[in-house]
Amino acid sequence: MTGVGRLSYCARSVDGLAALGRTLAGALREAIAGRPLLLLALDGELGTGKTTLAAATLAALGVRSRVTSPTYGLVHAHMFTLAGTGRKVEALHVDLYRLRHLAELDELGLEDGVQSTPAAACQVLLVEWFENARGRLGSPDLAFRLKHAKPGRLVNLRAHSTTGGRILRSLRGAAHPELQLLSD
Ligand SMILES: Nc1ncnc2c1ncn2[C@@H]1O[C@H](COP(=O)(O)OP(=O)(O)OP(=O)(O)O)[C@@H](O)[C@H]1O
Ligand SMILES: [Mg+2]
Repeated sequence: MTGVGRLSYCARSVDGLAALGRTLAGALREAIAGRPLLLLALDGELGTGKTTLAAATLAALGVRSRVTSPTYGLVHAHMFTLAGTGRKVEALHVDLYRLRHLAELDELGLEDGVQSTPAAACQVLLVEWFENARGRLGSPDLAFRLKHAKPGRLVNLRAHSTTGGRILRSLRGAAHPELQLLSD
């Protein structure tokens, strides 16, 4: 499925981008209930806010450990319990900036989303530099492309699945003084 919705925001500051992450977390919480696996792509030049967005999203989902970019190794796994449901969720924060060969992806075993942990009822994959996987991870539910802007960052979103479209619709409700909806 290609493009079941698009949306653009200007996040004028880190706080504005973090507000988008918090709204995303709320939408993911609902989406997780119906899907065992959610795949989110985070692309954009160096320093455009991919980790900032991932960290805000994961913190709002209930991840207690500090979220940093996986510098050593390409994946950080965060296990948490979804508030109010008791369901165990595994968030995999992946950074493919240092991916040298596509074969490394096979070693990570991310093709079906599942790296490990049968204990988790579902998984959320947030993949920075998703485009470096060159299609090997399949189509994401939702793709973010971040760009430097003045001020802040431009965030273009595109949904590629029905679930992604639903998440996108929820994101239209994101509200913060430093987050401006540009198009929908
Ligand atoms: N909306 C924003 N407005 C201004 N500065 C921002 C915004 N979002 C993030 N930043 C700042 O940009 C810098 C880089 O952010 P971040 O590390 O999240 O980018 P990244 O895209 O993950 O980078 P990399 O490509 O190295 O992984 C940080 O100093 C962060 O505070
Ligand atoms: Mg990063």
